[in-house]
Amino acid sequence: MKRRDFIRMAGLGILGLAFVGCGEETKPVASTPVPSAGGVAAGITPSAEAAAHNGGKKILVTYFSRKGDNYEVGYIEKGNTHIVADIIAQELGGVDIFEIKTVKEYPADYRECTEEAKAEKARDARPELAAMVKDFAQYDTVFLGYPIWWSDLPMPVYTFLESYDWQGKTVIPFCTSAGDNMTGLEDRGIPRYAKGAKIKGEGLGLRGKSVQDNPEAARTKVRAWLKKLGYQQ
Ligand SMILES: Cc1cc2nc3c(=O)[nH]c(=O)nc-3n(C[C@H](O)[C@H](O)[C@H](O)COP(=O)(O)O)c2cc1C
Repeated sequence: MKRRDFIRMAGLGILGLAFVGCGEETKPVASTPVPSAGGVAAGITPSAEAAAHNGGKKILVTYFSRKGDNYEVGYIEKGNTHIVADIIAQELGGVDIFEIKTVKEYPADYRECTEEAKAEKARDARPELAAMVKDFAQYDTVFLGYPIWWSDLPMPVYTFLESYDWQGKTVIPFCTSAGDNMTGLEDRGIPRYAKGAKIKGEGLGLRGKSVQDNPEAARTKVRAWLKKLGYQQ
């Protein structure tokens, strides 16, 4: 969605609702997708097998997302980007997953959230993060997910990018939004903050509502995207 369209919708109050930020330490994720009620797989691939599966690279899937009232979807227990992150981790198999979480939660009210995010963007804020990735140096490739906020990455994602040494690492971005696009800032923007990082691929942009309504259709898109990136299925 173009910025002016988003602003018009926000102004009309169409983008109602609320969210809460959250995050935690890295967790290993299952290798074989076994959808449960929550769409989360079970089982863990041994790391050697996972590394072989992923071309010998150690992969981290990390994301910023929010639950609560959300654009077009009503109250959700699991953020749209969170759903995509879990699918990517399940499809890759045996990778670690880390949620980027702020110390100060965003307002529960959606409109207040958009206002706060707008103010943060205006002052180029760096919201404090609640947790750091353990032993970030071990990862070769980082899948980085976020919702589009005001045609940009949310400011906590910039805090995240500036918190680590990215020399030699590859970043593969993905996002959700009101449309099915990326911000367009990824190629030049991410390496500017994640100094030394290389961006791989065009990124995967999915419409948040579609992901929430039909995660299995999102899984099909994720599979095709991973295949295009060279990950064996
Ligand atoms: C503060 C804020 C700003 C947003 N700005 C945009 C935007 O500029 N363009 C857009 O298409 N969607 C925008 N959205 C909608 C979100 O990108 C979309 O709902 C996304 O799927 C939410 O992901 P999440 O559930 O992982 O947080 C915005 C939402 C919020 C809360």
